[in-house]
Amino acid sequence: MLSCKVVVITGASSGVGAETARHLSAAGAKVVLGAQIGLPDGAVVQTDVTDRQQVTALVQNAVNLHGRIDVMINNAGLMPLSPHEMERFDEREQAIDVNIKGVLWGSAAALPHFKQQRSGQFVNVSSVAGHAVNPGGAIYSATKYSMRVISEVLRQEVKPYNIRTTVISPGAVDTEVPGSVKADGVAASVADFYRDTAIPANSFARCVAFAIGQPENVDINEILFRPTNQQR
Ligand SMILES: NC(=O)c1ccc[n+]([C@@H]2O[C@H](COP(=O)([O-])OP(=O)(O)OC[C@H]3O[C@@H](n4cnc5c(N)ncnc54)[C@H](OP(=O)(O)O)[C@@H]3O)[C@@H](O)[C@H]2O)c1
Repeated sequence: MLSCKVVVITGASSGVGAETARHLSAAGAKVVLGAQIGLPDGAVVQTDVTDRQQVTALVQNAVNLHGRIDVMINNAGLMPLSPHEMERFDEREQAIDVNIKGVLWGSAAALPHFKQQRSGQFVNVSSVAGHAVNPGGAIYSATKYSMRVISEVLRQEVKPYNIRTTVISPGAVDTEVPGSVKADGVAASVADFYRDTAIPANSFARCVAFAIGQPENVDINEILFRPTNQQR
């Protein structure tokens, strides 16, 4: 079911995006990666997801290379945990741009192709933080709750075109994401939590493979998973 699917992944230079690219590629998929550094072969396209034109160009590049796009994985994201009183406005704004606008631009870029093909699948990345909140997590949780809102609205809107919509909500997965926590006093505790709790990025890649590997008439809408020893 995976072989020959054309899959575009944003934020693929590290973490679950890079691991999913490896996993799907090994299963025979044709992956086209959006990363903040591009490569000349066209399979890795320099893409800042906050720039709508760059995201449109990434998807168009996949269609030019392979004639179609089957899966759009809106994965790029930042996790700027900090309490309101620290007033870390710049990183909050950046997270809103990457985590929300980046997904809107990715969806908008793929949708015309999916409609024309009358097939396609969005995979949007939420989080356990899109299902529960903690102090310091207002902006991150807001962006990740919004993934579920945006994806469910999208799911309903694109039904007539035979398009599938999946939200994946991971718990702690071992990636570079703790590095996006910069706030003094927060970064160290998040790093400790990840060191003690996180599971390998392949856990996420296997969820993606499951969701996109289903028969065309099966639409896996939500997957929520955690490390077995993660409390919330
Ligand atoms: N790991 C977890 O525990 C966990 C749990 C729940 C949800 N998630 C979600 O999983 C997704 C992937 O994160 P990850 O855990 O794999 O972390 P990661 O290793 O830090 O990967 C995040 C990726 O997003 C990219 N990115 C950041 N800003 C970007 C921009 N403006 N344009 C394009 N790409 C940009 C980064 O590229 P550069 O490195 O080049 O900046 C990087 O490749 C995120 O949406 C995150 O919220 C992760």
